Amino acid sequence: MSTIPARRVPNDTQLRYDLVAMTLHWLIAALVVLNIVLGLTMGDFPRQDPMRGAFLDLHESVGLTVLAVSVLRVIWRLMNPFLPPPEGLAAPLRLAARATHLLFYVLIIATPLAGWLLTSGAPKPLSWFGLFNWPKFWFYQGMAAPDRHHLAENFAQVHVTLAWVMIVLIVLHVLAALYHQFIRRDGLLARMVPWL
Ligand code: HEM
Repeated sequence: MSTIPARRVPNDTQLRYDLVAMTLHWLIAALVVLNIVLGLTMGDFPRQDPMRGAFLDLHESVGLTVLAVSVLRVIWRLMNPFLPPPEGLAAPLRLAARATHLLFYVLIIATPLAGWLLTSGAPKPLSWFGLFNWPKFWFYQGMAAPDRHHLAENFAQVHVTLAWVMIVLIVLHVLAALYHQFIRRDGLLARMVPWL
């Protein structure tokens, strides 16, 4: 008597993100980490030091690139479902993972957006890698200098707060990836790493 072959249920290592998702993930991750380093180091230079301006220009250009790529990432996300969590993962961990991922989507848009809003209040043009002038938000025009300064200062506080939330979240995200890879050994990392 022949047996009916069991349906092949994809295990965690067979479920993978596609190349578009992997490229967007690692590109954004690299640019965000670079921008955190630039953001945290640029304040160490004295105000008149040209290196401070160079770091800030680079920080702004990289950040605007993150914003543009993140818009593509959100569109991709809306068109593609989340992969299911690995089998047997406890409900609180599933919830934590989903919440972290959703918050990341908010942060990769909101953090550079707040930076763009704050820099729009500065008198200098906003250049993208010296190639062209990135448009600025219009509402600073016609504002008295103290009001402009005050508004930009508020956006700066939002920007810096979001950046720190992102730093904490990145640490948690990396720890979670290491937990899956080396403690739970469920192959989750292979979903996002092309060569695993
Ligand atoms: C994902 C993108 C970005 C990340 C992760 C990021 C991160 C940071 C960090 C970590 C700081 C330093 C915070 C501190 O001093 O404690 C900072 C400061 C700053 N960023 Fe960004 N940033 C991003 C995008 C942008 C963009 C797009 C702009 C402008 C176009 C911008 C403009 C600034 C400015 C002007 C400051 C100095 C704020 C101040 O202290 O007055 N950033 N950013």
